[in-house]
Amino acid sequence: MADTISSTAILLLVALVFIPAQTAARTILYTVDQNPNSISSPSPSPSPSPSPSPSPNSICESMVELQGYVCQQHQVTTKDGYILGLQRIPVGRSGKTADKPPVLLQHGIFSDAVTWLFNSPEESLAFILADNGYDVWLANTRGTISSRRHQSLSPNDPDYWNWSWDELAAYDLPAFFQYVHDQTGQKLHYVGHSLGTLMAFAAFSQDQLVNNLRSAALLSPIAYLNRIPSLLTKAAAELFLGEEIYWLGLHEFIPKGQQVAKLLENICNKPGINCNNLLTVFTGSNCCVNNSKINVFLDHEPQSTATKNLIHLAQMIRGGTIAKFDYGNKEENIKQYGQPTPPIYNMSSIPNETPLFLSYGGKDQLSDVKDVQVLLEKLKDHDQDKLVVQLVENYAHLDFVFGVNANKVVYDPLMAFFRLH
Ligand SMILES: *[C@@H]1O[C@H](CO)[C@@H](O)[C@H](O)[C@H]1NC(C)=O
Ligand SMILES: *[C@@H]1O[C@H](CO)[C@@H](O)[C@H](O)[C@H]1NC(C)=O
Ligand SMILES: *[C@@H]1O[C@H](CO)[C@@H](O)[C@H](O)[C@H]1NC(C)=O
Repeated sequence: MADTISSTAILLLVALVFIPAQTAARTILYTVDQNPNSISSPSPSPSPSPSPSPSPNSICESMVELQGYVCQQHQVTTKDGYILGLQRIPVGRSGKTADKPPVLLQHGIFSDAVTWLFNSPEESLAFILADNGYDVWLANTRGTISSRRHQSLSPNDPDYWNWSWDELAAYDLPAFFQYVHDQTGQKLHYVGHSLGTLMAFAAFSQDQLVNNLRSAALLSPIAYLNRIPSLLTKAAAELFLGEEIYWLGLHEFIPKGQQVAKLLENICNKPGINCNNLLTVFTGSNCCVNNSKINVFLDHEPQSTATKNLIHLAQMIRGGTIAKFDYGNKEENIKQYGQPTPPIYNMSSIPNETPLFLSYGGKDQLSDVKDVQVLLEKLKDHDQDKLVVQLVENYAHLDFVFGVNANKVVYDPLMAFFRLH
């Protein structure tokens, strides 16, 4: 029984959360199709544990320079000691030096900078921005392939994985902002997808980073999560929280790991669970993603995250709040925060004059329309000329970054917004 619960939980969480969740699910579906009754060799590329530490240059080499663009590899150290990699595309294909401000692109969970480089140069936001004269900076949060170093910890140490998106907002994002600002001497535009929006909302609501910010584009915005329509997703969050101690013990959550694959396979054999529908159930039906490219993506993704990060997200799905990590008891919360419940991030505290471009999808099952409405209600006092909201009726979660028509549908209006600020 315990196995069943774990399986359900993990299956749903892998599938549920953000960008390359799709990839994870596809990996598993592929396996299930090949081997309907077997749980051996579950993944095309099972990750060893400890995970590999590939060359931090690999994104520049394999994703940017290959397309004919200049790419620089940079690194920055956070206040809590993580050494993070950034890639910079300083000029477009024309070779003309950027004449527009820097843009920092922040990926979502289970992903990294590859998010913005996945499609052709005409379709991928990072290349489009570079070709339009922006100085493009690609962030990679702690634990991803470019950002697995630390001043004193190794990814093999449990302590390395003791973080959730609280720390991404409090340490990683400020380190990126400061670094890009220092390097360029300019305020920056920001683009976040999914968890990359949550990190920004959390920071901005505490009046952080806004001094170095020109404007922010938030795609598939995630702040409130408890109107996620899928009952399975909600049930998964509950089950995951029910086994919090067990999962926290895993520290690093490796989506391509054997353990996760085995559990997924297990649950896909349960009656009543239709794994063929998982992608749609969890990310929504992505109208415009080029499926034939998914194998390219699999070579690089999905990336690890901290199990604690997933538990924090599950808390949001259960609670409907946007608050710091809940340690689950008064004593520990008081020790951490000086109060019995975790402090709330107040979305109404985002400075009203901060220019925000929000784009959300009518078919997105993670950034659900009703949850976005709750967020917009919190932003009702925002300066009207500083807030642009776009609803793309036929878009689901992944269309915002992988959609082959996102250049016209989302990125053109996004750049028009940047030009105003
Ligand atoms: C994780 O970090 C918190 C503080 O952020 C600390 O109180 C706690 O003891 C750490 N947990 C472990 C297992 O090291
Ligand atoms: C989809 O991807 C394949 C393989 O990379 C490519 O040949 C094709 O042109 C892509 N289609 C579109 C519409 O981008
Ligand atoms: C959130 O911030 C708004 C604006 O600063 C304030 O009016 C409101 O009382 C705050 N809400 C909470 C729960 O602190």
